[in-house]
Amino acid sequence: MSGFESHNGQWWCDQIALDALADEYGTPLYVYSRARIEENYRRLQYAFKALNPRIHFSVKSNSNSAILRVLREAGSGFDVVSAGEAYRALRAGADPASIVFAGVGKTESELVFALENNLGWINVESVQELELLNRLANERNAKPQVALRINPQIEADTHHHMATGGHRSKFGIDVNDARSVLMQAGQYLNLDLAGLHVHIGSQLANTVETVAALRRVLELATLHPIRNLDIGGGFPVPYRPGDELPDPSVFAEAVQQVLNANARRSFDIAIEPGRSIIADAGVLIATVQYTKLREDRRIIVCDASMAELIRPALYDAYHHILPVKDSQPSALVADIVGPVCETGDTLGADRELAEVARGDRLLLMNAGAYGMSMASNYNSRPRPAEVLVEGKFHRLIRRRETWNDLVRLEE
Ligand code: LLP
Repeated sequence: MSGFESHNGQWWCDQIALDALADEYGTPLYVYSRARIEENYRRLQYAFKALNPRIHFSVKSNSNSAILRVLREAGSGFDVVSAGEAYRALRAGADPASIVFAGVGKTESELVFALENNLGWINVESVQELELLNRLANERNAKPQVALRINPQIEADTHHHMATGGHRSKFGIDVNDARSVLMQAGQYLNLDLAGLHVHIGSQLANTVETVAALRRVLELATLHPIRNLDIGGGFPVPYRPGDELPDPSVFAEAVQQVLNANARRSFDIAIEPGRSIIADAGVLIATVQYTKLREDRRIIVCDASMAELIRPALYDAYHHILPVKDSQPSALVADIVGPVCETGDTLGADRELAEVARGDRLLLMNAGAYGMSMASNYNSRPRPAEVLVEGKFHRLIRRRETWNDLVRLEE
């Protein structure tokens, strides 16, 4: 297996010791394993092989150009949610036809960008968007492939910030509206309305709601000649040691069964995985700045914070935290915190962390997805560097920001 492993008393990314990378590039530092990204991509392909889907890597989970290039070379297409993400994918050499553009609030200029760049699919989320796109396409003599993103009114079993299919969710077009659109699809003369899209959430705990949502979508597919079913992403990743979550192959089997039981014809299938490809292919390395004792616990202040990894603060997300080099167990639990002036800037609370001292390195595991892509400059912290490990080689794929970068756009 490729990726992050501990041997000889310290942690490695493939053939490179992480401590050596921290010495060379400084911390906080994101490190990714190319081999692991490729392995995850192939694992998904294999899990879904019976459905032979187009795989569109969800760019929001990690939008670094070098990562996008690795995935493009592996054969991936891209799921984008802004013209900015589409721009990144195109710049990374993506075939425009392999790009799917979703998003609840695409602006007119973003839709124009999609048309002018011939993106493969535009996933439309409201009747008004459909009408606007039809007009813009007409003005350009274009006929884009369009999918309706359905709001199936099904609440996924996940953190409420990551559920996107419930009846109060802003995402997708109502089933009733979708029904009338599909029954009058002929009126959208400049749209090739041939797809349905559903994504009920991220880090899905089971397949039950996915199956229910898909059933609802398949009912709609009977109303109009639909060629393409985009079943979204959301395949979960075990963040906590011992987490038992369904493997992508379990989702694939569930989808296959619904299709067998409910679809009278076959569809081209697309999936949009983000986390399941990139989460465990990346870590964040931090350096311990100070340690102090507070009643029954250690407070470990490190140089990574909610600015570099916001998931714990935003979703109470768990990232496993370990010393980069083995050390003695400690009798006291630890709160691992960052330097940002917010109590919410806690990366891990009540952890059984081995003894660490000022200068030691910590590893925040499974940080490849929604880590750097959600990083900010809060507290005027320059965003961290990113490094890609390729076997026994490593290269900087984004340099550390400088103080000058912080003010560059303000002159
Ligand atoms: N497709 C659509 C339409 C999406 O909205 C998303 C994620 C995906 C695919 C990819 O989902 P994935 O396979 O990565 O679960 N920032 C949060 C996750 C938000 C996900 C947003 N949409 C986090 O840090 O966990």
